[in-house]
Amino acid sequence: MQVHALTVGNTQVENNIFLAPMAGYTDYAYRKLQISLGVGLAFTELVSAKGLMYGGENSAELLFSGQDINKTSAQIFGADAYFMRSACESEYLQPFSIVDINMGCPVPKVFKNGEGSALLTDIKKAENIIKECVKSGKNITVKIRTGQKRGDDIATEFAKMAENSGASLITIHGRVREDYYSGEPDYNAIERAKNAVKIPVIANGGIFNKQDAENMINRTGADGIMIARGAIANPFLIVDLLDKETSVTLKEYMLNHITLMAERYGDRRASLEFRKFTSYYFKGKVGVKELKTALQTAESVGQIKFLISNYL
Ligand SMILES: Cc1cc2nc3c(=O)[nH]c(=O)nc-3n(C[C@H](O)[C@H](O)[C@H](O)COP(=O)(O)O)c2cc1C
Repeated sequence: MQVHALTVGNTQVENNIFLAPMAGYTDYAYRKLQISLGVGLAFTELVSAKGLMYGGENSAELLFSGQDINKTSAQIFGADAYFMRSACESEYLQPFSIVDINMGCPVPKVFKNGEGSALLTDIKKAENIIKECVKSGKNITVKIRTGQKRGDDIATEFAKMAENSGASLITIHGRVREDYYSGEPDYNAIERAKNAVKIPVIANGGIFNKQDAENMINRTGADGIMIARGAIANPFLIVDLLDKETSVTLKEYMLNHITLMAERYGDRRASLEFRKFTSYYFKGKVGVKELKTALQTAESVGQIKFLISNYL
């Protein structure tokens, strides 16, 4: 695929391969590693606008980006335009130039509050939220799905609405809510939306290797792509997509990962949260069964580092 810089409102993004927001995965440590390998823009996981406005320290922590702030977009969610705009204007989002609005989350806890993908059924409400957030002066981007049920295609209508409401970019996850994360993306829906607007359109869904990325760009004509589970399964996916090389090995990457997590979250939380990454890191690899089990039961960062250093 053609890698090029992108303009998002008044901000220039170095390249058009973005790291998706993924709750429980794309924390500060993971984003930092992926930014260092080359992603153009990394997204925080979805953060509740109301949570921020009620002073939730946990919500604020999800936004921490340190030195990577210029390559990070904060993703917020909510159904109340007042809270969404207030969050954009708050001290928490002050350091971010780009703020993304989640209109795709399928999780019942979010959906039943009229948030995330529920907004795809209420275009007026979605429009109002975008317009209010734009008034904050931030570069507002929106992430949507192609609808609720198989056969739906709201992407074009939503992309036009988002553009007319002042959004600077739209990301389309080419699946409907009921599909969650499975099935082939709806390339045609993304292509139609791309052709209907002038703002950059980023295509997302099912990109696990270079061929998937080429296919996505060729079939949709999108301005860029967003990688998600593919970047967890293969942390070096971004390097392949950029046609670059890296001297960093998986062993070094994993050691850097656990070190960064420990620095930010402390020993206990880091060692527990690292467990879920090991299944991804070792997927399809042979001869690592025992190491994987040991890592998934390790109870300290020191133990994890010892295991990786000596057995990988
Ligand atoms: C564990 C997990 C957490 C996710 N969390 C978010 C989130 O916080 N915000 C969001 O917009 N999308 C979220 N997503 C969706 C991804 O950003 C992406 O749209 C989806 O995984 C499709 O891309 P893929 O097929 O390449 O994985 C999440 C996906 C997964 C698997």
